[in-house]
Amino acid sequence: MHSSQKWDTVRFHEALVELCEIKSGNHVLDLGCGIGRSLAAMLDAVGGEGKVVALDRMARSLADVASRFDREINDARLEVVQADVLATPFRDGQFDVVLCQNVVECVNEREALVAEAKRILRPGGRLLLGHHDFDGIILASEDRDLTRRLVHGFADHKQAWQDAAEGRMGRLLPGLVANAGFASVELEAKLFVDFDLSPGSYAGDYVRWLADLAPELGISDEDVAHWAGRLAADVAEGRFFFALPWIGAVCRKS
Ligand SMILES: C[S@@+](CC[C@H](N)C(=O)[O-])C[C@H]1O[C@@H](n2cnc3c(N)ncnc32)[C@H](O)[C@@H]1O
Repeated sequence: MHSSQKWDTVRFHEALVELCEIKSGNHVLDLGCGIGRSLAAMLDAVGGEGKVVALDRMARSLADVASRFDREINDARLEVVQADVLATPFRDGQFDVVLCQNVVECVNEREALVAEAKRILRPGGRLLLGHHDFDGIILASEDRDLTRRLVHGFADHKQAWQDAAEGRMGRLLPGLVANAGFASVELEAKLFVDFDLSPGSYAGDYVRWLADLAPELGISDEDVAHWAGRLAADVAEGRFFFALPWIGAVCRKS
């Protein structure tokens, strides 16, 4: 069985950057860059004359970025900035493009985050605000109740590095940007599927994350192990199905 929408981390971040329509020579920002999964594609898109800035508040992630992109940093094609997404050190209108993927749910002041991204865009510049909708994950399992508890519990679980968590953030993005004062907003939606739990698959990682979280949700190790074992059997029998929704808004500043 084959799907062109099978999850592929590298390809996903390349597709995000394609949606940004970055031009050679542009000055672009990855707002909440994490370990820098979008940076290689952004650096390619801006070319030798452009510049990429990667901002995050987590020192560990930025150290990871710095070690993988030391040549680009030395060449001044990439700058790493440790700051809060709600109070960036950038001047008004500094960037041609701002990419902000899977960050909005982490902050309490979502409108303020959108306003900050808009402030630092030049007139005519573009913001790509993207988010998975973790609460919308589809997972075929014969144990309907336990699967629902795990999927919804994971979606709303606040990680230590988050100020807030909102598992439905993908579906809430259109409403968030609707009245933010952009000249235009184009909405995009993608669905990524996996048919197995093989190492490196999104579904394989996701099932492990659910199993790790289960005790916090009041689900015993034994019950979750049985549930995961049943999924593995479903793979062998060709009945496994997993899908991850993503929603994005390409917002153009007037
Ligand atoms: C789920 S990760 C997404 C990373 C990256 N955009 C990606 O798609 O791989 C969210 C990132 O946002 C960062 N973050 C969350 N709240 C933040 C804040 N208030 N200021 C700066 N960074 C923040 C986290 O440190 C984390 O690296």
